[in-house]
Amino acid sequence: MKIAIASDHTGVKHKQEIINFLHSENIKVKDFGPENEKRVDYPDFAHLVAESVKSKEVDFGILFCGTGNGINMCANKHQEIRSALCWKKDIAQLSRLHNNANILTMPARFISFKEAKEITKEFIETKFEGGRHINRVNKIAIL
Ligand code: RB5
Repeated sequence: MKIAIASDHTGVKHKQEIINFLHSENIKVKDFGPENEKRVDYPDFAHLVAESVKSKEVDFGILFCGTGNGINMCANKHQEIRSALCWKKDIAQLSRLHNNANILTMPARFISFKEAKEITKEFIETKFEGGRHINRVNKIAIL
């Protein structure tokens, strides 16, 4: 498995914690930055991860900003991206089971490192349930 990850300045520490966690699980990571907590604009980073997922260079994307909202909105502008804003592991699980989410977005200002790791683990280990959810997921995109 390979995962693309990025954040804005508010999520740099969470991003690094998740990179370390993913490496400990032998998962390859492409880090789109930023490298430090100097103020940046979250769209510049969200779009890089969304493009990486869309091109199938990676299996999933992970994004952090302060609330998760801004970076999630950017990712969801891309066709074929289903980015889920998750602050609890149950929501992450359902975003995979029901929505076949391909990007996990988390709010760095509102969750601990431990919570971020639990949410990430749940997201990457849960498979899409298919069945009645297939038609619904196919109706998300506006062509
Ligand atoms: C940055 O101050 C903040 O606006 C950003 O991290 C995010 O919460 C935006 O949605």
